[in-house]
Amino acid sequence: MNRTADVFETRFRGHMDELKWLYMELYENEEMYAELCGGMRRFYEARNKDLKKLDLEREAQPDWYKKNDMLGMMFYIDNFAGNMKGIQSKLDYLEKSNVNYIHLMPFLDTVDGRSDGGYAVADFRKVKEELGTMEDLEALTAACHEKKMNICMDFVMNHTSEDHEWAKKARQGDEEYQSRYFFFKDFSVPALYENTVPQVFPTTAPGNFTWLPDAGKYVMTTFYPYQWDLNYRNPRVFNEMMYNFLFLANKGIDIFRIDAVPYIWKELYTSCRNLPKVHTIVRMMRMIGEIVCPGILLLGEVVMEPEKVVPYFGTVEKPECHMLYNVTTMATTWHTVATRSVRLLKQQLDIVNGLPKEYVFLNYLRCHDDIGWGLDYASLMQEGIGERSHKQYLNDYFQGFAGMSNSRGELYNADPLTGDARFCGTTASMCGIEKALSEQDAQALEKAVRLDVMLHAYMFMQSGIPVIYGGDEIGRLNDYTYKDNPNKAADSRYIHRGAMDWKAAAQIDDTSTVAGKIFSRLDRLEKIRKTEKVFMADADTWTIDTWDESTLCIGRYYEGEKLLGLFNFSECDKMAWINETDGMYVDMISGQPMKASGINIPAYGFYYLKRK
Ligand code: GLC
Repeated sequence: MNRTADVFETRFRGHMDELKWLYMELYENEEMYAELCGGMRRFYEARNKDLKKLDLEREAQPDWYKKNDMLGMMFYIDNFAGNMKGIQSKLDYLEKSNVNYIHLMPFLDTVDGRSDGGYAVADFRKVKEELGTMEDLEALTAACHEKKMNICMDFVMNHTSEDHEWAKKARQGDEEYQSRYFFFKDFSVPALYENTVPQVFPTTAPGNFTWLPDAGKYVMTTFYPYQWDLNYRNPRVFNEMMYNFLFLANKGIDIFRIDAVPYIWKELYTSCRNLPKVHTIVRMMRMIGEIVCPGILLLGEVVMEPEKVVPYFGTVEKPECHMLYNVTTMATTWHTVATRSVRLLKQQLDIVNGLPKEYVFLNYLRCHDDIGWGLDYASLMQEGIGERSHKQYLNDYFQGFAGMSNSRGELYNADPLTGDARFCGTTASMCGIEKALSEQDAQALEKAVRLDVMLHAYMFMQSGIPVIYGGDEIGRLNDYTYKDNPNKAADSRYIHRGAMDWKAAAQIDDTSTVAGKIFSRLDRLEKIRKTEKVFMADADTWTIDTWDESTLCIGRYYEGEKLLGLFNFSECDKMAWINETDGMYVDMISGQPMKASGINIPAYGFYYLKRK
């Protein structure tokens, strides 16, 4: 046996018992299990030597992603740079933006008009033609690795597009392929599901099933009607999807964002969310990754309340995802912007800070999706704030209707039945930059920019990996042109999925421009974050009472170093009544020595105070 085979064998032996146990528990199918093992070996053998080298390095340093040096950015390839090759030509800009983790939004083959922004994959092994080829992807990941950058992609495993080869065969009546999805000859079983399964897109795609006149059957479609849910009860589906995952890993992908992972297992009489078997599948995927390509990371997309998110980390002995989105913190941040009250946010941060430090969260202000107002309403209720009226307030506020709002944006999937709605808009527009620019109000603009930068400063203060939504580094505004495109008009998420403004990006060194102001201020913060070890993911983190409704204080401590972050979420100057008596501090932005007691924070301002 040669040396490389030994590496595989050793890794395989480390997981063999558990993997087989879980597989058999789910599928009771020796033959398919043996096939999976053979497949893993083949993908291992096909993995190129540079990637294998990276695997070994990362295996030797399993905490490689848990430091303070990662900064992510996410964007659509066409919006950002036309195609894959274009991205390669923008790597210098990304480096200048201090970014070393790039999330390329879905780029696999999909059909325009039925793409859900690329989340309806027609072929997992083909890049969408306009964006390039698999060779381009390989060249891009290799170029990124040269620059020590990581590439993240979406692995959309809950469903395929109706244009996927399996779906086409299923539609033509092939029962083997129908068994890879959920097909029903009449609505009796779907009706039972509908009793307990909530809707993801109540307005744009009501219901969870779609009638296929040509097949004469119903198919399960949790998301859009053209996104057919895969049936993971079928081991063929699991095996093939794992081969797709390993195929993409071998193209040099570092981070897999497992799209819509809570949905991948369905059972009658349940909500079909977060079922125990979902965890079996994710755990198997983690082990398969650790055997074949241990350099990769799994990022779970679990857009749910904290108690549902955390189980996706698995346990210390049996980990599942490496990283998860800090989604409740994100939504609570915008609640804080709209209410000028940090109470709920402080409580939310205390929950996250109380979790084991091994857990790595992905922190963000905005992403490609809407903001769902998943807040801790039980706590808000104690202050007399009801869920329905509060969501209404938040949606009014961010549309710019309510009292003190300068925000701009649009509702998403407003459900007339429940009165529920989510919200879309870019960070800059939600902070008031769009309104101030259109009203040519210089003072308001300065305030809006301050809010935007303060929010980033606060986001960087959290442990984990911050990911900037591409364009936010230069204050990208809402883009209303999606309304002119019939393929996009019905989906308001496109308002914040506009094209990168390279004219504005050319002005990043000119601090009289909005782009220059935001870019330069973020640049400073990003550099501080990467060089100060107090930002290490496993630092102690806590909140400190400021005795003021609108100001938040976060403390960080790591190996003798201490940092206080003070953030003012109000448009008025505020006093933070903290009193840390352990010596003098220095403001890391201005270099001014300061006492950490009774601090006046200017409107939408912040301080990073480091203990001397
Ligand atoms: C995820 C994506 C979202 C998409 C959905 C269906 O939630 O973030 O954009 O619509 O999955 O794939």
